[in-house]
Amino acid sequence: MPLNDFLTTAIHAAIAAGTALKDRLNTRHNVKFKGHGTSDLVTEMDRHAEDIIVSLIAKQFPDHSILTEERGTIAGLSDQHLWIIDPLDGTTNYAHGFPWYAVSIALHIDHSCQIGVVYHPEQNELFHAIRGNGAFLNNVPVHVSSANELTQSLLATGFPYDIKHKTLNNIANFSQMLPQCQGIRRAGAAAVDLCYVACGRFDGFWELGLAPWDSAAGTLLITEAGGTVSTLDQKPFTPFEPSLAASNGLIHQAMLTILNRT
Ligand code: IPD
Ligand code: CA
Ligand code: CA
Repeated sequence: MPLNDFLTTAIHAAIAAGTALKDRLNTRHNVKFKGHGTSDLVTEMDRHAEDIIVSLIAKQFPDHSILTEERGTIAGLSDQHLWIIDPLDGTTNYAHGFPWYAVSIALHIDHSCQIGVVYHPEQNELFHAIRGNGAFLNNVPVHVSSANELTQSLLATGFPYDIKHKTLNNIANFSQMLPQCQGIRRAGAAAVDLCYVACGRFDGFWELGLAPWDSAAGTLLITEAGGTVSTLDQKPFTPFEPSLAASNGLIHQAMLTILNRT
């Protein structure tokens, strides 16, 4: 089946879920704790957005396997195709009515990410990539930035939910990096951060404890936009690796040197 058919379904599902999220942003939410400290939240809308996406994908491709944040793995007859879904990236923002969140959908075929879609409803921005075909924002090709020094760079990062109990909590990395660059943003939706590296708004991003649904789509966007993605200890990245450094390529080594100092 042509990759374009998978892309069409991913885009349709991302827009349907994102529109439902946007419609309900300013309503009262049923917020529950997932167990990793006071900031690991889930709302009724995480589940609702996930239902929308899973039902659309399962209807089109009933044999495919699906991995989602809220349901875990739904095994299909074929393990050749694996959809990796974050129905609401930025739940803490969403629960507070802070309009910065996204839907992230990736498709792995034979363990390789072939399609990535991230929809940011509040900005009406749809990022997509098909492996080998470049990265796009609202159907216009995008590229990583050309900043070649940290002193010219705007970076982004995030912190783990169990920050109180973790030694690898990113605070030391953050304070080492901050004086070296033009600024570090912590907007609270990793999938958006990654797409912002892909389109050159950020020059680099790192985080220590991501899940596959946070990074699968956005990292394909970055490599298709000409950027570099690795683990913090410079191993090849897969979405099943929790540590991630992503950049325009030009500042990658400088970022890793500082992040590995701590
Ligand atoms: C979180 C966001 C946040 C990142 C966390 C993620 P969620 O995802 O992407 O920016 O710092 O590591 O878990 O829980 O809102 O889907
Ligand atoms: Ca997420
Ligand atoms: Ca989520």
